[in-house]
Amino acid sequence: MTDDTDGDSEEHSDEAARPTPALTASDASATATPRIGVCYFPEHWPRERWETDVEQMAEAGIEVVRMAEFSWGRLEPERGAFDFEWLDTAVSLLGDAGIDVVLCTPTATPPKWLIDEYPEILQEEPDGTTREFGSRRHYCFNSPVYREESKRVARRMAEHYADVDAVVGWQTDNEYGCHHTVRCYCDDCAAAFREWCRDRYESVDDLNETWGTTFWSQQYGSFAALQPPRHTAAEHHPSRLLDYARFANASVVDYNEMQADVLREANDEWFVTHNFMGHFDTLDAFSVSESLDFATWDSYPTGFAQDRNTESVTEDRLRAGDPDQVSLNHDLYRGPAGFWVMEQQPGDVNWPPRCPQPGEGAMRLWAHQAVAHGANVVSYFRWRRCRQGQEQYHAGLRKHDGSPDRGYEDATRAATEFESLGDLDGVDAPVALTFSYDDLWALAEQPHAPDFDYWGLVGAFYRALRARGVQVDVVEAATDLDGYEAVVAPTLHLADESLAARLESYVDDGGHLLLGPRSGYKLPGNRLQSDLAPGPLASLVGGHVDQHESLPESVDTTLTYRGDAYDYRTWAEWLRPETADAVGEYTSGTAGGRPAVLDHVVGDGSVTYCGVWPESDLADALVTDLLDRGGVAYSDRLPETVRAAERDGHTWVLNFGGDPIEVDAPDDAEWQVGDASIPGYGVGVVGAAVTELSVQ
Ligand code: GAL
Ligand code: ZN
Repeated sequence: MTDDTDGDSEEHSDEAARPTPALTASDASATATPRIGVCYFPEHWPRERWETDVEQMAEAGIEVVRMAEFSWGRLEPERGAFDFEWLDTAVSLLGDAGIDVVLCTPTATPPKWLIDEYPEILQEEPDGTTREFGSRRHYCFNSPVYREESKRVARRMAEHYADVDAVVGWQTDNEYGCHHTVRCYCDDCAAAFREWCRDRYESVDDLNETWGTTFWSQQYGSFAALQPPRHTAAEHHPSRLLDYARFANASVVDYNEMQADVLREANDEWFVTHNFMGHFDTLDAFSVSESLDFATWDSYPTGFAQDRNTESVTEDRLRAGDPDQVSLNHDLYRGPAGFWVMEQQPGDVNWPPRCPQPGEGAMRLWAHQAVAHGANVVSYFRWRRCRQGQEQYHAGLRKHDGSPDRGYEDATRAATEFESLGDLDGVDAPVALTFSYDDLWALAEQPHAPDFDYWGLVGAFYRALRARGVQVDVVEAATDLDGYEAVVAPTLHLADESLAARLESYVDDGGHLLLGPRSGYKLPGNRLQSDLAPGPLASLVGGHVDQHESLPESVDTTLTYRGDAYDYRTWAEWLRPETADAVGEYTSGTAGGRPAVLDHVVGDGSVTYCGVWPESDLADALVTDLLDRGGVAYSDRLPETVRAAERDGHTWVLNFGGDPIEVDAPDDAEWQVGDASIPGYGVGVVGAAVTELSVQ
């Protein structure tokens, strides 16, 4: 526990001690031949067409079909009057063609009759506005009525399909939290939040102490006095916000577990999964996945590439996306049983600011990238462009007249290529990169700079590893790190003694840790530690943080690291080495001459603490030093649009640029897909684990 001298101890830091979660490390035992799938909505099309659809799917090599995620209104047009006939027909057509069916609980879209019966199901905004019927995801996770209704519809479906062989597993709901719907502020949530706080804290005084509510007279006299952080004058108390974020997440975890239990009760051989989203902020995928067999996620590279970067996005990014942005999610969602891409962008989409046609072959490139990072199924969204509703401007593998679209050719080609690769084991990553949703939430509340965002900081370190072709497991810091040659923790913002002890034992036993800025600043309750940063991590780091500052792009932000000059951005800490050596020093601004990077030998291992958000050259220097220490082999630094990834003795070279590349691989390398001349937006696969690649 933390030093208690000014009453800052926290009772509730034991989260770090929970057992290894489901999404943790790679597991080489997850052997499978990667398959291609598609998301299909038979209910949008005349029944006479279904047989043709299934034939064309089989012709393309599609082996998995997902259905029914928004079908409640069609399945139960009025209370109790279930109509399964249409879905039964579709399932049996697919089953007869040897295609595996994944069904979804249809709870993302409660139908109109249900909302009319129980309007309290609807979510509320922080200002009290109701999120009305008319789109999707309009239900509150804490509505007792909706929980019962969800259970009822899930059970009915599960029992109906319990003995149908074609149905191999389930997706719960659809994209929990999409359209900013993890956090709701209604009265049911208010009541549930009070209960959650009662469970978490011994007494209301304990809550007051952990949050620090003497500030601005925010003390609570009872749990009953607590409210969701609804609209107020200035910013809300950060500890209350963080607990509300945790509570809202826990509501989804609970709701998902309820659905998973209902499905498994009907048939315990089914797998249960959920389709998460990319770079998603408000849901802790580690905790939701504890009740899943494996995770899946929905990948839309050309949309993601425009995130915070609408008009300056490059042509290559617009056509193929940003490889690291995409694969960071692959690596996050990969668990012991691998992962799936449940929705793979099929062509142009409807929701980003700009909706370009992807580069020639990009839909195949994305499927290969996913498989190289451990995917066992890549399932395109959707079969056919839809002629009704909100997504008419979203492509499918087939055009809306039924003819093949660009994605169909790509998917077909990928299916043949995966078949030829045969069974693949999982990814065996030598390096772990830590990820914490609590840190993400705490830093999002107090970024202290307009451009400080957690995903960006994590991405800075992740990119450096991927540019060297190194496979990375993205894990919770509380995970067992023993199997990793090196660990990168882009930040460990909220930290307690138990986290420090775990890291100390990893390093002591010969592990090598690279730790980023803003670490150890706060207690898990989101108030400052009683000691200077990095608080409980100080003995690991071998020094303290004396000052910090955030800076705009318009000023010089430079330093030297081991004698060479580099740039950093956004955030700088003036460090005070104690038992560590200063190996980096600021060369600009008021920080000039002060230590910026510390290096510390601890037991048989080492810790490097980097007090800045590094630009790419500095990140590369830090990461390659770490890899050298950990004895991890790496490639030449690859161009931004080229990535390499090894899985089970095969190495993928992925070209996210429009220009062709020539790969220098060892002479005896056998190309299983493509060859050393890779066209724009193309891919090649070598039948060997090649670490020393270079590319022209
Ligand atoms: C996903 C969603 C799908 C569809 C798709 C469009 O977020 O799960 O239902 O809306 O986006 O790209
Ligand atoms: Zn609510």
